[in-house]
Amino acid sequence: MPPIRVAVAGAAGRMGQTVCKAVEEAPDMELTGRADPALNTPLAEVLPNADVLVDFTIPTSAVANAREAVDAGVHVVIGTTGFDPSELDDLENANANVFIAPNFAIGAVLMMQFAAQAARHMASAEIIELHHSTKVDAPSGTAARTARLMAAASQTGAAPPIHSVRLPGLVAHQEVILGDVGQTLTIRHDSTDRESFMPGVLLAVRKVGDLTESPTVGLERLLGLNS
Ligand SMILES: NC(=O)c1ccc[n+]([C@@H]2O[C@H](COP(=O)([O-])OP(=O)(O)OC[C@H]3O[C@@H](n4cnc5c(N)ncnc54)[C@H](O)[C@@H]3O)[C@@H](O)[C@H]2O)c1
Repeated sequence: MPPIRVAVAGAAGRMGQTVCKAVEEAPDMELTGRADPALNTPLAEVLPNADVLVDFTIPTSAVANAREAVDAGVHVVIGTTGFDPSELDDLENANANVFIAPNFAIGAVLMMQFAAQAARHMASAEIIELHHSTKVDAPSGTAARTARLMAAASQTGAAPPIHSVRLPGLVAHQEVILGDVGQTLTIRHDSTDRESFMPGVLLAVRKVGDLTESPTVGLERLLGLNS
């Protein structure tokens, strides 16, 4: 099998740099392009040599980047948060696939699942998400998705309130606190290093071309876990 040719949008950013390194180290992938205004490299320049585009940019760019890639027949893996994934629903029958995950860390995916499971049984809940001080969006995509999953699972259908904390020293953390008569349950996940997202990103790069439904949202869909 020839290597999967991967281009990265946002390649000069914190996540983009980590993704470039992970792709370079993956034996079945080849890093063919680094797009980023900070590198004076537009997306159009890297798409002709790519099978898959990985996007870790900013909320106002992710949708346009995905459309440009799909128009060029390039599959897209989106990690950028802070936009509404339903904005890409019309790409359902496009000639390339779109995969979106608000969180590529397996522990965070499990945290969301456990929180949804617990929301079925406990009276109410609140979400506290904590991130580094330069994160541009709030609430985080992970918190927003956790709230949606919990609302869908709960008996009331109400989404839990989200509190956002931004401080230097943090990476990406989330606590879901559920309360009921005389008891609380706390579910917490911590990403202490951006490496935590890389196995999920590489899995998505390997699978995005074979999706039977596009766009697909959530790493759990690639892991065979119930959403
Ligand atoms: N899904 C996940 O698991 C996960 C994990 C961590 C971060 N994130 C998200 O990833 C995104 C990036 O985070 P970061 O910390 O790397 O941010 P960052 O600010 O370090 O990097 C963003 C980069 O995108 C570049 N950029 C802006 N517009 C662009 C465009 N149109 N085309 C190409 N590049 C463009 C910027 O120049 C910058 O280098 C954020 O939305 C963040 O919330 C997602």
